[in-house]
Amino acid sequence: MSRIRKGSRVWTGAERLAAAARVMVPNDGGYFTIEPRALFAREAPLEVELGAGRGDFIIARAAAHPERNFLAVELAGTIAQLMAIRAGRAGLENLRVARMDARPLVNLMLPDASVAAYHIYFPDPWPKERHVKHRLFAPAFAAGLRRTLRLGAPLYVATDVADYAEAIFSTLGAAGFVRVDSTAPGAELTGFAMKFRAQGRAVHAGAFYVAGCIG
Ligand SMILES: C[S@@+](CC[C@H](N)C(=O)[O-])C[C@H]1O[C@@H](n2cnc3c(N)ncnc32)[C@H](O)[C@@H]1O
Repeated sequence: MSRIRKGSRVWTGAERLAAAARVMVPNDGGYFTIEPRALFAREAPLEVELGAGRGDFIIARAAAHPERNFLAVELAGTIAQLMAIRAGRAGLENLRVARMDARPLVNLMLPDASVAAYHIYFPDPWPKERHVKHRLFAPAFAAGLRRTLRLGAPLYVATDVADYAEAIFSTLGAAGFVRVDSTAPGAELTGFAMKFRAQGRAVHAGAFYVAGCIG
């Protein structure tokens, strides 16, 4: 109950709401597809972070690359709102936050070949057998990543969970991706990355490309 009260406090305060409104993609039911050009009112390569958490990585990356567009996707409402407040306060014109499930976005809503890079850092591992269905990485999701990536564009992934890394890498392999590097830009820079690094935990990362289309 106290968590619900704490969460609802994030949605109050005129300055917070105005900051978030500058970047939040509306979730009023009007979006069956997401058209990147309409979101940003300009044409530029689009990088997408799925499960972006508080946005530590994507906010810094968007600030460093004003020539690119960025979409940060986060399922948890309170966390998405916190990220939107931080991003809105940073005054970034090239970053939008969508509070939604990454799976329909990738599987259905983004146009073919519309994404110049995906970043997926420390996706929830759902370690219990009966919860495995909640994991992001499944064959349909990997196929969606492949469909929406531009020719030669990278998919960056990192996790601290060894057996989930194995499952992710093999799901991506089966979908036609090859791991060409064992590093990823956000594997050191997200909120969870910094926490895990401080704890000395091993991180399994990779830059993946569709076989035969390495950029
Ligand atoms: C372990 S956290 C990692 C957050 C961030 N990537 C980082 O490294 O600091 C996983 C995040 O993914 C979000 N998430 C889980 N399932 C999701 C889904 N289906 N779509 C979008 N976000 C999701 C969670 O709410 C959580 O914020």
